[in-house]
Amino acid sequence: MSRIIQLSDLHVLPAPQRVSGVLNTYALLVDTIDTLLADWHKIGPIDAVVVTGDITDTGDAESYQLFRQQIQRLPAPYFLIPGNHDRRDPMRHCFEDKATIPPSGKINWVHDLADLRIIGLDTLIEGQGGGGLNDADLKFLSQAISTANTQPILLAMHHPPFASGMVFMDQIGLTATQPLADILNAAPNDIRVICGHVHSTIISNIGKAVAISAPATCSAFPADYRADAPAGFTSAPRGFSLHNWDQGFCTTCVTLGNSSAPHPFSSP
Ligand SMILES: [Fe+2]
Repeated sequence: MSRIIQLSDLHVLPAPQRVSGVLNTYALLVDTIDTLLADWHKIGPIDAVVVTGDITDTGDAESYQLFRQQIQRLPAPYFLIPGNHDRRDPMRHCFEDKATIPPSGKINWVHDLADLRIIGLDTLIEGQGGGGLNDADLKFLSQAISTANTQPILLAMHHPPFASGMVFMDQIGLTATQPLADILNAAPNDIRVICGHVHSTIISNIGKAVAISAPATCSAFPADYRADAPAGFTSAPRGFSLHNWDQGFCTTCVTLGNSSAPHPFSSP
């Protein structure tokens, strides 16, 4: 059995800067880590923490350092892929000691747990909101799948390989998803795709694989499917995802934020 925490879309900025003048994303990151540590004995044991991009809001070096100080408080190894708000070189510089951060090129990687292979796939096209996979990325993925033998695979990427229905986000979605679907359809493995970018929990598929986007730790994008829906965010619900492998995948999306204490069931 393996259990993985997925954090996504942290959009860290050094305080007192706020994203769009509203969100103190560094404070929200600290709150997220505090909550995870407080609940660790309930949700663990945790084998890995996977962060699916938009680690920072502007890709600046200080924000990566602030993120690192917080993420390394968690008692589990962590693995990173960039999102459209990240920049590879500052990210690489901050995490150059990590085996899954290559010294150049795309930040694609493989990490094996006892009964599960995790693959990180970098969809960032620097300077653009939308994402893409080039021929080398697809070749990397094919090899990572073929060398997993029959192990199940958790495939992590930032951009969802499906349309969300949110117009302003689908305009900056992942392009050319058919080659990805073809690779996943040809694989004999049980594959679960996890992603971020859309700041909400959406369950869809890419080929035969189930694909699930995680909530963001800092904000949410409303379910507004009108063609003229305003592009923007709400401050809640924030959250993270938990992925279990135990003879099959099971994903729980956990909401962060204030709630009253657990109330035991009782008769009226
Ligand atoms: Fe984001």
